[in-house]
Amino acid sequence: MKILMVVTSHDTLGTTGQKTGFWLEEFAAPYYVFTDAGAEVTVASPLGGHPPIDPKSDQPDHQTAAMARFKRDATAQHVLAHTRRLSEMTAAHFDAVFYPGGHGPLWDLAEDRTSIALIESFYAAGKPVGAVCHAPAVLRHVMIDGQPLVRGKRVTGFKNSEEAAVQLTTVVPFLVEDELKRLGGRYEQAADWASFAITDGRLVTGQNPASSTASAEALLALHAAQPATKSLYERLGGVYSIATVVDDFVERLLVNDTLNANPAISEARGRVPKAGLKFHVTALICEGTGGPCKYSGRSMKASHDRLNINEAQWRAMVADFRKTLDKFKVPTKEQEELIAIVGGTKKDIVKPASY
Ligand code: HEM
Repeated sequence: MKILMVVTSHDTLGTTGQKTGFWLEEFAAPYYVFTDAGAEVTVASPLGGHPPIDPKSDQPDHQTAAMARFKRDATAQHVLAHTRRLSEMTAAHFDAVFYPGGHGPLWDLAEDRTSIALIESFYAAGKPVGAVCHAPAVLRHVMIDGQPLVRGKRVTGFKNSEEAAVQLTTVVPFLVEDELKRLGGRYEQAADWASFAITDGRLVTGQNPASSTASAEALLALHAAQPATKSLYERLGGVYSIATVVDDFVERLLVNDTLNANPAISEARGRVPKAGLKFHVTALICEGTGGPCKYSGRSMKASHDRLNINEAQWRAMVADFRKTLDKFKVPTKEQEELIAIVGGTKKDIVKPASY
């Protein structure tokens, strides 16, 4: 089993002049729950490298057994010191994703388009998503079928009364409890600082640092209860099927009037051989769906930057993609997974002014 853990890169506690980051117990305890169960853990953060540890989480009165173990564990420390960049992660390579809290995620991960798209990909692919303490805030903009993921779901997260107890109610950009309720989540809670985790559907949420172990165990239980799923790459039928779909898709794009009305796109069309484009897009989708290919082209930002692609052109592209998927009778679930993967590139392709 492969688990992705995502931690914050944000280290500034609002305007207080104090430091924040992720809560060490919320990384350490789940890390050992996962690795002790034999899972392979990858840790990622928006900026990569060593993420900021909230200094408060390492104060004497917050020490735990998992933290003590972490401090004796050179391997775990190396993993944490070299977190991967979130933008390099794809849901297809993992079985589940887990977000430790701390106040940091309220500022970066809650608003991070890469993180939002990644969670949407995990969920659409039927894979468990977990978040503890302040990390349920990362679900803030996550939409499934046009609705907030948490709407109608039993959820928990850091309580208003716990935020008041640490005197940060007026410092945080928003309160986790209020936000989950505003989104339509069925918010539940235990006593302040008690361990409390909830599973609803494929979503696990935990209330506070003491809930770290319970949340991680719930994520494992959720995964264990699922029938083993093949990778999207396998379900699509491998690279020949993907290449066939890409071939049809690119042919549609080449004659799409909405796209060709953009002079930068039509100029590139005349210059770039379509066979090369199909090769690159096939490799990208093959890799993104968990296949054995390695994409070797330019980044999505670099290759589309000068094309000035707007929202309407993006929609025209997605409509063509759906036509191709329908033509080849790709099942709805696999279609949604593919659309989520393609959707993850939007932030790098569509110009911010029109996004
Ligand atoms: C409205 C949406 C899009 C349009 C109009 C578009 C158009 C183009 C054009 C004209 C190029 C050639 C650029 C050049 O070499 O100067 C290109 C490159 C490429 N596009 Fe797109 N694209 C769109 C969305 C996407 C999406 C969603 C993906 C992948 C999921 C994608 C994957 C690629 C790849 C892999 C390349 C080749 C990069 C390289 O040359 O290294 N494109 N695209």
